[in-house]
Amino acid sequence: ELESTVSITVVGASGDLAKKKIFPALFALFYEDCIPKHFTIFGYARTRLTDEEMRNMISKTLACRIDKRANCSDKMEQFLQRCFYHSGEYGLEENFSELDRKLKEQEGSMQCLAQIVGRLANRLFYLSIPPNIFVDVVRCASRSASSPTGWTRVIVEKPFGRDSQSSAELTQSLKQYLTEDQIFRIDHYLGKELVENLSVLRFSNLVFEPLWSRQFIRNVQLIFSEDFGTEGRGGYFDNYGIIRDIMQNHLLQILALFAMETPVSLAAEDIRNEKVKVLRSMRVLQLDDVVVGQYKGHTKGGRSYPAYVDDPTVPKGSLTPTFAAAALFIDNARWDGVPFLMKAGKALHTGRAEIRVQFRHVPGNLYKRNFGSDLDKATNELVIRVQPDEAIYLKINNKVPGLNMRLDRSNLNLLYAARYPIEIPDAYERLLMDAIEGERRLFIRSDELDAAWAIFTPVLKELEEKRIAPELYPYGSRGPVGAYYLAAKHNVRWGDLSSDNNS
Ligand code: BG6
Repeated sequence: ELESTVSITVVGASGDLAKKKIFPALFALFYEDCIPKHFTIFGYARTRLTDEEMRNMISKTLACRIDKRANCSDKMEQFLQRCFYHSGEYGLEENFSELDRKLKEQEGSMQCLAQIVGRLANRLFYLSIPPNIFVDVVRCASRSASSPTGWTRVIVEKPFGRDSQSSAELTQSLKQYLTEDQIFRIDHYLGKELVENLSVLRFSNLVFEPLWSRQFIRNVQLIFSEDFGTEGRGGYFDNYGIIRDIMQNHLLQILALFAMETPVSLAAEDIRNEKVKVLRSMRVLQLDDVVVGQYKGHTKGGRSYPAYVDDPTVPKGSLTPTFAAAALFIDNARWDGVPFLMKAGKALHTGRAEIRVQFRHVPGNLYKRNFGSDLDKATNELVIRVQPDEAIYLKINNKVPGLNMRLDRSNLNLLYAARYPIEIPDAYERLLMDAIEGERRLFIRSDELDAAWAIFTPVLKELEEKRIAPELYPYGSRGPVGAYYLAAKHNVRWGDLSSDNNS
């Protein structure tokens, strides 16, 4: 049987993402035997480095999982021996031809003589570079460093443009050199364990799917918060803002998986077809259903925290939102009238990503008087906590044991750390493995991207044209109060840890 080789070239190898996520994920795949046996890794960037220097650079970022420390340093050494470096410009085909020669050399040495004929040399390029050079690199890589025998794939990561138009232009430019099949658009939230689990939860448990509609669900909340600011990334961030950075991609992807109809099968195209359908059924977001905020400086416990505009890479007087809340609607039979509320922000009081599903009231509730006047507090709520401390819990009403009839709120609680005492792989591990295997389920198809931009583009334009000033909120706070008014307008109360009892 013929075996293939795979070379993975990380373009932008000295950047932050490469060092923090990509090399460690590649090592983890090697460590877990989830990467093809014959592989090489190339770093490509402008900085002049020797192979040894690059190995040195990445060795500092590698780690073994806690439960498998045994032969860690041997494994690291073996991994590093497969790593090489080539320095070159991002837009020069001749530099990519040099890379091509080096790739061939490695591909040759990975093949033992008896098997040379017909063995496929596959190539994966990971573009860990700013978007203004995506197309240059893709041009050079496809013209001068494509695999002559096997597949060539390219992983790109957002930002995919700033709006419908620039995103469509980017797609078109990429398609001058690549087919849609070769483009793997990453949204790393799709690689997170609990996001992957959404479909399992819905489609393999009888108790959820029948309730998954406007008939039983009052509202859905998609919440992302970070307890730190843009620190150092202000230059990138200021051109995009939180709606483009988090909502249009990460939260919307979660929403699509949450709300889509049952796919025909688990095949990538079947799943992506359903996601596109639900996105295209969504109403275009309106300005009066959006609240924007920006963090300001704050002093707490003798420590002072900077404002967004204090970041030296942020232009003075910037109106870029670091927080946003939005109410979205899906105009189809399943979800008509159900508000999907999103909230995303930086420099808030906690760091969390979660989905909250608030169910309707029990009609004719026999225990009504046990809840006092606030019946909302008695409705069931399902929480899917993506991070940290992955968990799924369902808030139910329960009788407090004893002779009297007192009810309380308790959780049916699946806490991952207690149930599955293993370290959960990083999102990039799954995504890289899938890209190597050609599994496209977790990557964004171009029509999906278009549909996602169509929902947000008009409001993004309006915010910029009208120069809407964000509501300032103190660093480390719960964000602007406007978010509470927006929720109230749609009869929603944001769920939050403090109302979760024993979670
Ligand atoms: C990125 C955003 O896509 O996701 C960042 O650009 C954000 O601003 C990050 O910090 C959050 O990812 P994670 O996996 O740390 O939750």
